[in-house]
Amino acid sequence: MSGTRNGPVRSLRFEPERAVRAHIEPVTGYSRGAAQERSRDAIQLDWNESPFGLSPRAQIAYDAFRTGNRYPDLEQTHLTGALAAYVGTTPERVIVGAGLDDVFTTTALTIIEPGDEVIISDPTFGVYRSLFELHGASVVNVPLGPAPDFALPVEEIVAVISARTKLVIVCNPNNPTGTLFGKAEIESIVARAPCLVAIDEAYAEFSGVAHRDLADRYPNVILFRTMSKFAGLAGYRVGYGIFPPSILPWVRRAAPAFRNVSAISAAVAIASLEDRDYLMANVRKLVTERERVAAALRQIEGVLVYPSAANFLLIAPPMPDTAEIVDELARRQVFIRRFADPALGLRHCVRVSIGSATENDMFLERFTEALSGTMR
Ligand SMILES: Cc1ncc(COP(=O)(O)O)c(C=O)c1O
Repeated sequence: MSGTRNGPVRSLRFEPERAVRAHIEPVTGYSRGAAQERSRDAIQLDWNESPFGLSPRAQIAYDAFRTGNRYPDLEQTHLTGALAAYVGTTPERVIVGAGLDDVFTTTALTIIEPGDEVIISDPTFGVYRSLFELHGASVVNVPLGPAPDFALPVEEIVAVISARTKLVIVCNPNNPTGTLFGKAEIESIVARAPCLVAIDEAYAEFSGVAHRDLADRYPNVILFRTMSKFAGLAGYRVGYGIFPPSILPWVRRAAPAFRNVSAISAAVAIASLEDRDYLMANVRKLVTERERVAAALRQIEGVLVYPSAANFLLIAPPMPDTAEIVDELARRQVFIRRFADPALGLRHCVRVSIGSATENDMFLERFTEALSGTMR
């Protein structure tokens, strides 16, 4: 049909580039590396997951769940209460989400306007950059110091804070280096930053160090925590933030209805928190395994293992690029993580999650074999 009663025909051709937001254009998105065929019994040590299944109470809650026809609790009051009791804070300050990534989105929706700055320290968790850039933030990287200390560049961070800086993110322990930063260093940023400072404590349970007291003593601290790692609920997607009371009214407005947490995930998470002894025993097992794997790797000539306070190890095998060894292990159905982006300066490293003792033994065996094959 040509022409309309209301005037000349406009182009009706669909232009996808006009349909999408400008800020999405330069964003590459978070990549977890190439998808390889994985067999059912593949050894998956690339995503820092827990090797343990549901705790006994969580399993009972899962089996008993019958109310999938009903919407979840609108503000997740019950889950929020359980998490607040676990952390030792008030339920009002806790905002849950479908994993921490979802809580990051709520945070970005609350505070970021195009052109605002978010400070990170690479090498760190890749989602910060992709997610905050998606919301129009300019992500400023103040790199960590050199290996093996990967020191937090406190003075440099404070020096680059500008009027446009909305958020500084400190990942503690840091993924992927495993580094645990000192409290005094983090506090030195918190105390001087005229903006929000988020401490991502996704791996806090493995380090035994958490900074709830900073969130109580300073008005600008957000703590990010998750049930994915220590509680083994990565697939259920339950993360949470502990926010400063002063910004909470706005965070609540930005947070999605039901907090994006499904009723079954909430039920499983609440029951898991009732099995805290079980979960912490698993954490202790993983920490013991981490030290065993690190010691075994250090026996291999030329292999460097960096100190880790999390459920993974950053390893530097004696080669400038680890692509070949990671691919070789993948062919043997052992999946570990490499960091291809040259900007991170970790092309010579791999990161391996700590799995069950059997998985770790398998990794050690195949890593040693692959290393000798690669180096021949
Ligand atoms: C530092 C850090 N923060 C957050 C997350 C995301 O956690 P969640 O599974 O709760 O989205 C991860 C996951 O690997 C992580 O390493």
